[in-house]
Amino acid sequence: MSDSPDSTPTDRGRTVHGEAANAGHRVLAPDDAEVEAYLEQALHAPPPQRIETEAADHPDTVAILDFGSQFAQLIARRVRELNVYSELLPHDTPMAELERRGVKAVILSGGPSSVYDEDAPRADPALWSGRIPVLGICYGLQLMAHELGGEVLPSNRREYGPANVSLTEPDGLFAGIEREQPVWMSHGDSIVRPPPGFLPTAQTDSTPFAGLADPSRNLYGIQFHPEVVHTPSGRDVLRNFVVGIAGVRPNWTASNLIETTVAEIRERVGAGHVICALSGGVDSAVAATLVHQAIGDQLTCIYVDHGLMRKRESELLRVTFERDLGMRLVMVDARDRFLKRLAGVEDPEEKRRIIGDEFIRVFEEEAAHLGQIDFLTQGTLYPDVIESKTSETKTSQKIKTHHNVGGLPSDLRFRLIEPLRYLFKDEVRRVGVELGLPEAMVQRQPFPGPGLAIRIIGEVTAERLDTLREADWIVIDEIKAAGLYRSLWQSFAILTPVRSVGVMGDGRTYANVVAVRAVTSDDGMTADWARLPYEVLARISSRIVNEVPGVNRVVYDISSKPPATIEWE
Ligand code: XMP
Repeated sequence: MSDSPDSTPTDRGRTVHGEAANAGHRVLAPDDAEVEAYLEQALHAPPPQRIETEAADHPDTVAILDFGSQFAQLIARRVRELNVYSELLPHDTPMAELERRGVKAVILSGGPSSVYDEDAPRADPALWSGRIPVLGICYGLQLMAHELGGEVLPSNRREYGPANVSLTEPDGLFAGIEREQPVWMSHGDSIVRPPPGFLPTAQTDSTPFAGLADPSRNLYGIQFHPEVVHTPSGRDVLRNFVVGIAGVRPNWTASNLIETTVAEIRERVGAGHVICALSGGVDSAVAATLVHQAIGDQLTCIYVDHGLMRKRESELLRVTFERDLGMRLVMVDARDRFLKRLAGVEDPEEKRRIIGDEFIRVFEEEAAHLGQIDFLTQGTLYPDVIESKTSETKTSQKIKTHHNVGGLPSDLRFRLIEPLRYLFKDEVRRVGVELGLPEAMVQRQPFPGPGLAIRIIGEVTAERLDTLREADWIVIDEIKAAGLYRSLWQSFAILTPVRSVGVMGDGRTYANVVAVRAVTSDDGMTADWARLPYEVLARISSRIVNEVPGVNRVVYDISSKPPATIEWE
């Protein structure tokens, strides 16, 4: 999402708009992230004042200590699927901090290190006291074994992939689970002698210590990964630990969450005033609805119509938020302003820069009309929070990638309300459904902040926007009609500047080529082109050519990411 005006030629071959999306850690882009970045900047937010809603009101919590595993977030998600709240924390989080947070169980993630590495990540030794039940996974188990006097053997050979495990201890962690289980392994070192007091609980062909436990000290460990789908009984193992052994109450549900969040917001805002920028994405929609439930008309939503939205977007927003939910909504028709500034601009990064800049101006002007504003609501999600905790420089990086906006009044300072900051995307969707938001709003595919402008190759004009909007509408319509919408990460049309010869009726045409893109993906960081059924492609193609003036040819994009990106610009 970098609007970096200083992209160098070395940026070629990688996508320059998403520093995060493309730097390999995460997609900053989908939905509202872009709008939020604009706003944080507009607010001069030097790291924004974010409050931690701490233990007192928290549901029973499981802490996942992160030793660097690519699966650490997945463990947190799996625990939450048990309706138990879980948080990802640094591996060296002190025991006192865990106790302060009211943590009821701790899971040590795997990680790429060996316990013999000089800078191997360690945990607070107080963890082994047994005061809070601990489950070590992979490296987490090895660390536990090593620190408590067992022997771990360094090995150059990795055991990676599927394995069969025999569960030899039918109680505790493995209660109710068949003895022979397929599991997923990924480790280098192996345990060759358990620490005193520990019993082996599981074995594979390659290790007699695939599971260890010392129930008297509440310490458990497994060498395999219960969090991945390749370990079918993984969910049961986690449930046995969290609910069975640690006795955590599974009370993390959408309705509980709404109740506590609404109460918290009400208390925090008091008689203050709140604004929220609606982007059309799921996150800002759910965040705004939660805040509205708490404080009603003290919330004003602002929707900047930059004219780069999909067909009927503004209508959908008005109907949903103003008519059906009864929110105060300011809709700003800024279409002309954006078009004027985009006139003659062909460079993708320049388009992004202009759109970001204009967005801030419009938003700031509107906010100024509203009088005293105390808070800004944003739909920040948990993955963003984790990310900002782990990268100290994140805030400054983020700001650097955007242009500097001059001339904003320095008294424009809001405090942030981020009601989704503990949630993953799928949880946000569940909350949205529970709040009564329409399915069409809650299940939307991501849409980039700069909108259709980065799907029109070349200059953005009102006419070309109309053409693309119509073509895009047909793509979505047919994808939905075929029941494929939710299985795709994104599906959309691109208007190319290529013109080709065609024949329609008796006449020769010379018109534009529209490309159709549909991809599957888990997170937008990698993606594969969707194998859409031929009949669906045929209907899309014939409808676009017949119904959209100025288009006489449709092609389907069969590039995966990498090396291509999802968006064309
Ligand atoms: P790429 O094209 O990098 O896109 O494969 C990955 C995901 O990010 C979205 N995207 C953006 N979102 N502003 C946004 O808010 C942007 O400039 C932007 N560029 C790409 C894209 O739709 C996909 O989901």
